[in-house]
Amino acid sequence: MSVSVCDCSWYFRGDQVKNLLDRKYSGFRQNYVMELDDTICYCFHISKRKIVNFIRVYQPRRASQLTECGGAGTGCGWCVNYLKRFFAESQAAGMTEELTPEEYAKQRAAYIKAGHGKPAAGAIPLPPETDSN
Ligand code: FES
Repeated sequence: MSVSVCDCSWYFRGDQVKNLLDRKYSGFRQNYVMELDDTICYCFHISKRKIVNFIRVYQPRRASQLTECGGAGTGCGWCVNYLKRFFAESQAAGMTEELTPEEYAKQRAAYIKAGHGKPAAGAIPLPPETDSN
């Protein structure tokens, strides 16, 4: 008699498994860089994927038009420079990012704590402080 260990039909591509494991075990994410599902605008929960797709579909002529993507950049203002960067990179060639999501969140927290902006209502909260902050 044959016993199936798992009869579910779900399967993942190799990179999806890597991303899931990386997210679950973030201590191992030493060289993990911002990916499409990582959040860019914490105030309005806008992912990099939404920004990239907005640029691809609507082909904005100015970086400021990225605010039309779910209000990105209109809360605390932290992500505005990154929106400008994505826009500039889209005008040039491919879009690249060398920050890890943790570095990005920490830099935003420092930006908020320095009094540069106030997160929008419902924004993703600042990460907890650690000894290295
Ligand atoms: S993180 Fe985008 S406006 Fe606050």
